[in-house]
Amino acid sequence: MHNRRLAAALAVVASAALAGSLALVRPAAADTSLKQLAEGKGKYFGTALVQSNLSNSTLVGVATSQFDMMTPGNEMKWDTTEPSNGSFNFGPGDALVAFAQAHSMRVRGHNLVWHSQLPGWVSSLPSNQVQAAMETHVTTEATHYKGEVYSWDVVNEPFNEDGTLRQDAFYNAMGTGYIADAIRTAHAADPNAKLYLNDYNIEGENAKSNGMYSLVQSLLAQGVPIGGVGLESHFILGQVPSTMLANMQRFAALGLDVAVTELDDRIQLPASSANLQQQATDYSTVVSDCLAVTRCVGVSQWGVGDADSWIPGAFSGYGAATMYDQNYQPKPAYTASVNALGGSGGSSSSSPSTPTSSSSSSGGGGGGAACKVSDTVDAWNTGLTENITISDTGSAAVNGWRLVFTLAPGQTITNGWNATYSPSSGQVTATNASYDGAIAPGGSVSIGFQATHTGNAAAPASFSLNGQACSS
Ligand code: XIL
Repeated sequence: MHNRRLAAALAVVASAALAGSLALVRPAAADTSLKQLAEGKGKYFGTALVQSNLSNSTLVGVATSQFDMMTPGNEMKWDTTEPSNGSFNFGPGDALVAFAQAHSMRVRGHNLVWHSQLPGWVSSLPSNQVQAAMETHVTTEATHYKGEVYSWDVVNEPFNEDGTLRQDAFYNAMGTGYIADAIRTAHAADPNAKLYLNDYNIEGENAKSNGMYSLVQSLLAQGVPIGGVGLESHFILGQVPSTMLANMQRFAALGLDVAVTELDDRIQLPASSANLQQQATDYSTVVSDCLAVTRCVGVSQWGVGDADSWIPGAFSGYGAATMYDQNYQPKPAYTASVNALGGSGGSSSSSPSTPTSSSSSSGGGGGGAACKVSDTVDAWNTGLTENITISDTGSAAVNGWRLVFTLAPGQTITNGWNATYSPSSGQVTATNASYDGAIAPGGSVSIGFQATHTGNAAAPASFSLNGQACSS
């Protein structure tokens, strides 16, 4: 297994190197990545990936530069790992683990026991065979990934909305005790993994989270090795519960870790600029709540960007639920998360950690900014100097910006001023410096860089500011 995994890891490294240099060339902007800021606070910032994501170099560039924890979106679920009784398939999960290891990401194992994505053969078992099937499944999978996962969601989504346990195949066969049994079985297989119960709509204080609270109290009283509670956090815009912090604190006070495991914030489409500002506020609240709780170990978003998010497929009419847009450009929620983590990547130094929806919002629709870019290029035989002026042509102030443009083939940025530039060739993102993130309506900022070239000294093309194309 380990040889196969090493081979897979090398293949991933090789393909990532071919696919693009984004992950390899991140000079000054790196200190504002979500993961570095989170690590500075003793936490992680995670994402969910499915195997097909690994061939999307843009997605991979964002995933590996921003996130240090990875949850397989589907590949460790029962329908993939044991599609028929006793026949196990860890290939897809192994590929994701290899990818994570190649990029220094830890792994949240997801999940061992769940009513959904459960193959039909389990639900059709006579009830006196369910316990053995569950224990075999948990033991085999947790043993396979022993030492390679940071945590396991041992039981996923066990609760009904009223705080009673869901009457699924496991509950029906074994009663409440199936949960303790699954956790003990996982612990025997991988004693070092943090063992979680994970559910949605338990982020605030309500009947469902009360049910979870009573259950974990009783598990702890029985000496069951539960380590944490996962709050999925699939939010609807503007509906982050005001009791989320207090709720996390009460679980932490029991001696458990808590984690935000599947964060997204869905918006009824089309998303307006005001929606995206509200989403920024929501993300900021969630990140701040986690930071305020010592035992909150990290925040994971469910997916990398809007283009790979599960939301449009699961909630008709909704989308735009993540920090990155359809083209993997950062949205206001990204900037807000960076700010909440104490960074300044993409916002002026005076920006509040919770953006307001009025004067600090960016100008144009879709979170972009109405902009005009003028530039001059002065070239010599092997190099050039590019000066760029970015003007805010909208009626709202821009507060934190990312200017994306495409360099001509063969050009590589060697140094720049008044922004950080990453990567150094191809499609480049210039992120504002701490002192020039704010552009007043009608105002402008000047930035620039030097680059080497191999004969083509053309000016950059396709400028966009915060995701919106700029006129020239
Ligand atoms: C989702 C996946 O993202 C989808 O691809 C799949 O079709 C359904 O499951 N709660 C969970 C996750 O714990 O496993 C779910 O993932 C989203 C809700």
